[in-house]
Amino acid sequence: MLAATCTSQSADAPLTGLTVGERPDPVAPDGWVRVTLRASALNHHDLWSLKGVGLPADRLPMVLGCDGAGVLDDGTEVVVHAVVSTPGWSGDETLDPKRSLLSEVHDGTLAEQVVVPARNVLPKPAELSFEQAACLSTAWLTAYRMLFTQAGLRPGQTVLVQGAGGGVATAAIALARAAGFTVWATSREEPKRAKALEIGAHAVFETGARLPGKVDAVLETVGKATWSHSMRALRPGGTLVVSGATTGADPSADLNRLFFLQLRVVGSTMGTRDELADLLRFVQTTGVRPLVDDVRPLSQAAESFARLAQGDVFGKLVLTCWETATWCCPSTTSTRPDGSLS
Ligand SMILES: NC(=O)c1ccc[n+]([C@@H]2O[C@H](COP(=O)([O-])OP(=O)(O)OC[C@H]3O[C@@H](n4cnc5c(N)ncnc54)[C@H](OP(=O)(O)O)[C@@H]3O)[C@@H](O)[C@H]2O)c1
Repeated sequence: MLAATCTSQSADAPLTGLTVGERPDPVAPDGWVRVTLRASALNHHDLWSLKGVGLPADRLPMVLGCDGAGVLDDGTEVVVHAVVSTPGWSGDETLDPKRSLLSEVHDGTLAEQVVVPARNVLPKPAELSFEQAACLSTAWLTAYRMLFTQAGLRPGQTVLVQGAGGGVATAAIALARAAGFTVWATSREEPKRAKALEIGAHAVFETGARLPGKVDAVLETVGKATWSHSMRALRPGGTLVVSGATTGADPSADLNRLFFLQLRVVGSTMGTRDELADLLRFVQTTGVRPLVDDVRPLSQAAESFARLAQGDVFGKLVLTCWETATWCCPSTTSTRPDGSLS
């Protein structure tokens, strides 16, 4: 089968370790299922793997990818859940100390086929295309858990989303708007700020800009570059939820502000199978759809990785495995919370 595989790692030149080519077809062990993928999507996680972060070199070659949607051998259309917990684990699988994400221990979804534990597939909503469904497993699930489980926001409250262009951030903006929150977002670039407004932000700001008021919660994936701004943005008792640190993981902790304003800092990683099921229902009932920046065939994965590495992205980068070439018609539209297309 065709796959995008991490064959070597380099912190400075991660794309040199990406090989797009033939790999053996996977065989499903007992209790696992085979998914013939129709679409998969890139995440920053795939770049970290190529840089040698979170993927030990002795596990190479490793097929990359956490996000995917496809078809089981019996024809059922499914979305893949990327969090693989240890056999027998019960409860929140993101808290299983031995859990892994697809492409960390087991081969991932940037391939024509993937095998996963049977509990790691959920029915794909018929309303979603495979390209849209493939975006939900990682960035959208992470945003869902950050907003609804970890931040504990209620409709009418205000959330600030840092780094509007990222996969998690675009998901958070769209989900938060559909949930009835007031949504503020920051980005370094004016075109991205304009797009953030299109997908649901009520107001946008330059990265680090003074805000017109304090917010109830901040969603952080940027890390060091925006951390102190995030801390300053919170009202007393507000919550900073962090799930990533693209620009560095060692910001000033600002402890005086933390204890004096009784802020809460909450880590968040991926989401449970139940949260993914909730997310699928949420997008069905609200009409919100993932923003797809680009769709191209798996054979062109290197181009998509180059864009991700350059940060030249707004929304998700999707790779397709359709036998018919749907990539001739890239889906750059998203559905606004009011159901209209952008
Ligand atoms: N814990 C989890 O479960 C989980 C899940 C998914 C992702 N993540 C992590 O979350 C992070 C975000 O991933 P992602 O794929 O959503 O997006 P991403 O491609 O890493 O980009 C995040 C955003 O950071 C902003 N940014 C980048 N460099 C910056 C700088 N120097 N100064 C200010 N802002 C900067 C950019 O926003 P603008 O260009 O709009 O300014 C960019 O869109 C990654 O580190 C990823 O590994 C974690």
